[in-house]
Amino acid sequence: PLPDRVKIVEVGPRDGLQNEKTIVPAEVKIRLIDMLSEAGLPVIEATSFVSPKWVPQMADQVEVMQGIHRRPGVIYPVLTPNLQGFQAAVKAGAGEVAIFGAASELFSKKNINCSVEESLQRFEEVTRAAREAGVPYVSCVLGCPYEGQVSPEKVAQVAKRLYSMGCYEISLGDTIGVGTPGSMCRMLEAVSREVPVHALAVHCHDTYGQALANILVALQMGVCVVDSSVAGLGGCPYAQGASGNVATEDVVYMLHGLGIHTVSPAARTAHDTDLSTEERRRRSSCTDNKVCGMA
Ligand code: HMG
Ligand code: MG
Repeated sequence: PLPDRVKIVEVGPRDGLQNEKTIVPAEVKIRLIDMLSEAGLPVIEATSFVSPKWVPQMADQVEVMQGIHRRPGVIYPVLTPNLQGFQAAVKAGAGEVAIFGAASELFSKKNINCSVEESLQRFEEVTRAAREAGVPYVSCVLGCPYEGQVSPEKVAQVAKRLYSMGCYEISLGDTIGVGTPGSMCRMLEAVSREVPVHALAVHCHDTYGQALANILVALQMGVCVVDSSVAGLGGCPYAQGASGNVATEDVVYMLHGLGIHTVSPAARTAHDTDLSTEERRRRSSCTDNKVCGMA
C-alpha cells in the first residue's frame, strides 16, 4: 500500500546552492526561497550554519534568514553541525534545525571533521539546547565516496541513536546517489526495525537515475516524507562524483500520478507550534495530513 499523503521537504536552496561553483548572491537565494514558498511547498530548507571556511557558499546565512518573506505555515529549517551553528541559527530567527551525521566514519571526518561517535555527542548538545529536537540527516546510507559500501546495520545504529535523542524525523541520505531499489529496500528493512517507519524520510541524490525508483520503493515500505530539490540542484562539496538531488517537480509529478496528495502549508495549524516531540512524531505519520516541525 502507498501512503495517502506525502510531505515534500525542499532542499534546493541549501543542498543545491552549497554546491554551486560561483557564489549565488543572497538576494537571488531569497527570491528563490520566496518563489518556492509561493509554489506551495510546506518545508523549505533555507541555508546552513556551517563554517564559511568549509562552505563559503553558505556564508550569507544570516542575510538569507532575515531577508525571506515567511509564509504562514511554511517551515524553514536550517542545517547546523554543532552548538555554535545552532546558537547562530536561533539568533538569526531559525525555528527548526537539522543536524547532519553519517553512517560512514570517513565521510563524517571529511564533512564535519569528527568521528561518527564524536558527532553524536555534539548532536546531543544541540538537542539538549533545542526546545524540541529537530530533524537529523544520516549521510551515506547506501554508499560512501570514501568507504564504498555501508552496511544497513550501521545506518540503523546511527538512526536509532538520533531517534533516541528525541529527533522527530530522520532523513536517510543517499549522498552520492549509488543506491538502487534493492539496496534501498534492504537498508529500510534494517532501519525500520529500530525506528518507526513514519519517522523516516528519504533524501536521494540521482547520480545513476535511480532516485525516483528508490523513492517509490520507500513509499511502498511506508515512508511518507521525501526530500527533493527544485530543478534537481544539489550535491555536497565533500562527496565528489555525486550529482544533484531528485527534482521536486519530478517527485510531485510521480506522486500525483499515483494519486498521492502532497501536504500543503495550509494543513498546518497555529496550534502545531506548541506540539511535543511525541505529538510531532505521531502527526508525521502517513495517515495524518498535518505538517510537523518546530516554529
Ligand atoms: P572544525 O574546523 O573542526 O571546527 O570544523 P572547530 O570547532 O575546530 O572550529 C574551527 C573554526 O570554525 C573556528 O573559527 C570556529 O569558530 C569555526 P576560527 O577560530 O578558526 O576563526 N566554527 C564555525 N563557524 C561557523 N559556524 C559553525 C562553526 N563551527 C565552528 N557552525 C565544522 C567543524 C563542523 C564547523 C566544519 O567541518 C563544517 O562547517 N562542516 C560543514 C560541511 C558541510 O556543510 N557539508 C555540506 C552539508 S552535508 C550534506 O550536504 C549532506 C546532506 O545533504 C544529506 C546527504 O545528501 O546525505 C545533508
Ligand atoms: Mg544531500
